Amino acid sequence: MKKLFLVVVLSLITITAYGCQNSSNVFDFILDENYDGFVTMATSADYPPYENIVQDENGKNTVVGVDIEIAKAIAHRLNKNLRVVHKGFDFLVEDVRSGKIDFIIAGMTPTPSRSEIIDFSKSYYTEDSVVQVVLIHKDDATLYQSIEDLNQSTIRVGAQTGSIQAEFAETFTPLATTKIVQDLKELLNNLENNQIDALFTEEEVANTHMNNGYENFVKLTLPELEGYEGNAVGVQKGNTELLTIINQVIDELLADGSITEWLEVYSA
Ligand code: ARG
Repeated sequence: MKKLFLVVVLSLITITAYGCQNSSNVFDFILDENYDGFVTMATSADYPPYENIVQDENGKNTVVGVDIEIAKAIAHRLNKNLRVVHKGFDFLVEDVRSGKIDFIIAGMTPTPSRSEIIDFSKSYYTEDSVVQVVLIHKDDATLYQSIEDLNQSTIRVGAQTGSIQAEFAETFTPLATTKIVQDLKELLNNLENNQIDALFTEEEVANTHMNNGYENFVKLTLPELEGYEGNAVGVQKGNTELLTIINQVIDELLADGSITEWLEVYSA
């Protein structure tokens, strides 16, 4: 009887541990055994080349990308290891506002409404502005030659929940049906399977997908939009100490070409 009890308990422990590991969206990076504790970063890892979940050489999920490299550099500067928490893009601002997480790096554009809730670093993007695009099927390229051609009631466009692209969909294609989904990868599959006709995203992300299996997509470029400049790191309002360090790290990574190099590596 005792033995049976032990077996049941042990298997419960195994199931729980396995369950946690599987449902866990937390990725720990021990950068140095001598560092004391972790600094935590929130991201939505569906956005290569910035952040993406891939399998490592042991078949285990890990998170990689430009934003993860930047976070590692920030963590090193703080003498901390790095904990990356992956969740829906629309949850990130609140997690940093409430102090649950130390900073966001998620290809996030500092907008006036977000800046009311959290503070942003300088942009770490290498160009002044991020080029915004719409992905469509190559076969549709003659049908839809500009963004105006997509503004029809028969068209279905997709954008990520809480993203500026969801706003762009309303601005540029108000007549179309907009599908707002939390996971950008799901929207990519939707486009692939003709469940939507077009997907609002940004150029680096579109290029990365086109380089990695989505060769039958093409992009239409949106006109330049004011007030949506670059991508930046978000911290809790008033945390100037952390923000100063982050801005210094960004300056260094831009100056020594690291960010340009990482953009190349993770979009290939
Ligand atoms: N740049 C856009 C924004 O700030 C989209 C970012 C989406 N990021 C992500 N990791 N899925 O709204």
